[in-house]
Amino acid sequence: MNQLCRVMLLVSIAACSLSASAQFAKPEDAIKYRKSALTVMGTHFGRLGAMAQGRVPFDAKAAADNADIVANMAKLPWAAFVEGTDSGDTKAKPEIWKQSAKFKEAADKLQAESIKLAAAAHSGKEDAFKAAFTATAGTCKSCHDDFRAK
Ligand code: HEC
Repeated sequence: MNQLCRVMLLVSIAACSLSASAQFAKPEDAIKYRKSALTVMGTHFGRLGAMAQGRVPFDAKAAADNADIVANMAKLPWAAFVEGTDSGDTKAKPEIWKQSAKFKEAADKLQAESIKLAAAAHSGKEDAFKAAFTATAGTCKSCHDDFRAK
């Protein structure tokens, strides 16, 4: 590989990692991105909920796998709450941008709790897992109450 190729490769890697902090061409793209991330997170969180609530038997491996996905997905939606994306196919309330510090705090809380949830799931201890699930679910509800339209 010559020098130019090497530089180009580094540039494209940098561009890829930047896309995580999300530059969106259109408001609709940001809305679609965050809803997709929330949907994936919600699906895996739902599988954890089924175990936490005893609708399916506790399975430590499945709990750990799903909780890892939730903890990773929990990082993604927030960069897509770009200014000017409170209308269209979205339930995001304008309060997100009026009270942005409070919104960020709610997102941080979810991320912190989801890391604890993953740790509890990896411990294989059902009681710790259930408690951590309840704590994490509380962060979903409180943000939805404040920032998501019905
Ligand atoms: C920091 C605030 C916040 C937290 C924390 C949060 N959400 Fe949400 N969630 C939102 C907002 C705002 C929307 C609406 C997004 C939109 O319509 O653009 C939403 C939408 C959703 C949706 C619907 C996505 C769609 O396609 O319309 C699901 C599912 C969801 N959240 C699941 C969860 C789960 C599960 C948790 C906790 C593990 C959680 N959320 C935590 C703010 C939050």
